[in-house]
Amino acid sequence: MASLAEAHGTPLYVYSGEQIDERFGLFQAAFHDRPHTVCYAVKANSSLAIMRRLAKLGAGFDIVSGGELERVRKASRAALKRVVFSGVGKQVWEIDAALDAEILLFNVESVSELELLAERAKALGKRARFALRVNPDVFAETHPYISTGLSEHKFGIDIKQARAIYKRAARLKWLDAAGVSVHIGSQIRKVDPFAAALERVTALIAELRRDGHDIRYVDAGGGLGIDYGAGEFDPAHQVEKYATALEKGLGGETAHLLLEPGRFIVAQAGALVTRVLYVKKNGAKTFVITDAAMNDLIRPSLYHAHHEIVPLKQARGVSVKVDVVGPVCESGDFFARDRELVRVKPGDLVALLDAGAYGMSLASNYNTRPRPAEVMVEGAESRLIRRRESLREMLAGEQA
Ligand code: LLP
Repeated sequence: MASLAEAHGTPLYVYSGEQIDERFGLFQAAFHDRPHTVCYAVKANSSLAIMRRLAKLGAGFDIVSGGELERVRKASRAALKRVVFSGVGKQVWEIDAALDAEILLFNVESVSELELLAERAKALGKRARFALRVNPDVFAETHPYISTGLSEHKFGIDIKQARAIYKRAARLKWLDAAGVSVHIGSQIRKVDPFAAALERVTALIAELRRDGHDIRYVDAGGGLGIDYGAGEFDPAHQVEKYATALEKGLGGETAHLLLEPGRFIVAQAGALVTRVLYVKKNGAKTFVITDAAMNDLIRPSLYHAHHEIVPLKQARGVSVKVDVVGPVCESGDFFARDRELVRVKPGDLVALLDAGAYGMSLASNYNTRPRPAEVMVEGAESRLIRRRESLREMLAGEQA
């Protein structure tokens, strides 16, 4: 990694292609016995290189915007037919683009969206396959910002109202009520809530079938959590537990299963490599100031998320308690607080681990900082998959 940092500069996102493939393979294997499609959640990391390699393995994609649809088109035109479109605020141009691309499924989140979808489908002469994203009112333990399955959240449609809405939709010939979907939140470590949510969805599907709807898809959403700590983590075991929970929730239901994992596939395949700029003391505190900041990786600032930090050279040595912070002008710009870290000095490289998901995809230009470069490692080889943003590119759209 140190040589990559020398070659491409820092901050630098580095990904392991092999680990991404492996993680995708775990889902394929765990659900082998049932017809399924793994629709990778593009928002977790929308790098075209990552998307293309997943598409080659047969992945579909869970998208939430017209922009992400465009990414699928660039990564793999063949994968367009394996796209599910989620999100509470789809706009006309986005719906039109998705209808035109003949995606697999619209995950509809409100009655007004369903009405708009019917209208646009008619206008374009395309029949729209949809699933209502139901809100199962199931609690899943995670950070409040990324929990979505309770009725107090903005997501989905109250599961109790769903049947009546499907009934109304059946009268519109431009709509094809093809599935039911659910997503209860993200970074969920205990798998029981997934089973509970799916049980409710499966019961609804049985009712819908009795009402005469031809339900072929059940979308279980994403959300399977990883371990951000330093301990042992067995991803294969975690996916197996997840699969067992989903099987339990599905019972005898045989509809084609759609999955929308994001984090689990890419988080641990990525690290953010950054260089120490300064080390300084303020009173009792020692600050390690890195060239990466909250604009490059916002998870610690936004969710108080823990990311392991490891110096690239001296893994062992005297350790000191430090705050690792970036150059952005906010006290919330930190990667770690009061963390025991091997003593580092200006010029040293450190890696923030498990940064492959919701790292680069949430990066911004705050403080007019160009976004990092990204490199994909493949065995002994490596490839620049996105060059560092230049000052010129950053200012290109502006007029003084
Ligand atoms: N499907 C839907 C409808 C979603 O909203 C999400 C994530 C996923 C799938 C993928 O979830 P995953 O498998 O990655 O947990 N920025 C936050 C996470 C936000 C998750 C948003 N929705 C973070 O850094 O923790």
